Amino acid sequence: MLKIAVLVSGGGTNLQALIDAERGGKIKNGTIVKVIASKDGAYALTRAANAGIETAVVARKSFENPDDYDRALLAEIEKCGADLVVLAGFLSILGETVISKYENKIINIHPSLIPSFCGKGCYGLKVHEMALEKGVKVTGATVHFVNLIPDGGAIILQKAVEIKNGDTPEVLQRRVMEEAEWEILPKAVSLFCECKIKVTGNTTVVED
Ligand code: GAR
Repeated sequence: MLKIAVLVSGGGTNLQALIDAERGGKIKNGTIVKVIASKDGAYALTRAANAGIETAVVARKSFENPDDYDRALLAEIEKCGADLVVLAGFLSILGETVISKYENKIINIHPSLIPSFCGKGCYGLKVHEMALEKGVKVTGATVHFVNLIPDGGAIILQKAVEIKNGDTPEVLQRRVMEEAEWEILPKAVSLFCECKIKVTGNTTVVED
C-alpha cells in the first residue's frame, strides 16, 4: 500500500471524494495517512478528523519566508512517510524544496482544462469567473503532476464540463466539481498507486 499525504486549504470536498473513494475500495493500493492544511480552521481538517485520519497544520501565514514554509511542509510530509502527495484544493504555491524531493510524486487538481485559465493567481472561484468572462462553452478539470511552473506539469487526466446559459461562477464551480473533479482526482490517485502512469518529459501515458 502506498502512503498518501493530502494537502488542503479550504472546504475539502476533493479530500472528501478521496476519503469516500478509499472507503469504497476505489483507490487500489493506496491509503490516506495524513491531511496537512495551510490554514488553521480549514473545514477539510474536520473532514479528515471525522474519517479518523491524522492531521497537521503548517500555516502559511506563520512564515515570512517561503523557503522556511517549504521546509516545514516537507518535514511534515516526510514524517508520515508519504509516497504520494496530493494537492486537493491546496492554494499555496509549493517551492523547490518539496517539489525536488517528490519529483513526479505530487499531483494537483485544477478546475479548468489546462492550458486554459491556469497559472499564478488562477485558483478557486477566480478560474470560473475567467472562463465565463471569456465566454468559452466548455470547461472542465485537470489532474497533473506538479513541477516548478504553476499548473505546468505533465497532465494525467482531464474531463470536460459544459457551460450553460445563465451560469454564475458559483454554479459552474459546483458543476465542475460534481461532474469532473470528484471523479478524476480519485481515479488519478488510484492509477498512480497502481503504477499505471508513465511520465516521459512533460507528458504521460496512462494505462486504463
Ligand atoms: C477546487 O475547485 C480545486 O480544483 C481548486 O480549489 C477548489 C478547492 O475545493 N484548486 C485550485 O484552484 C488550485 N489551483 P475543495 O477544498 O472543496 O476541494
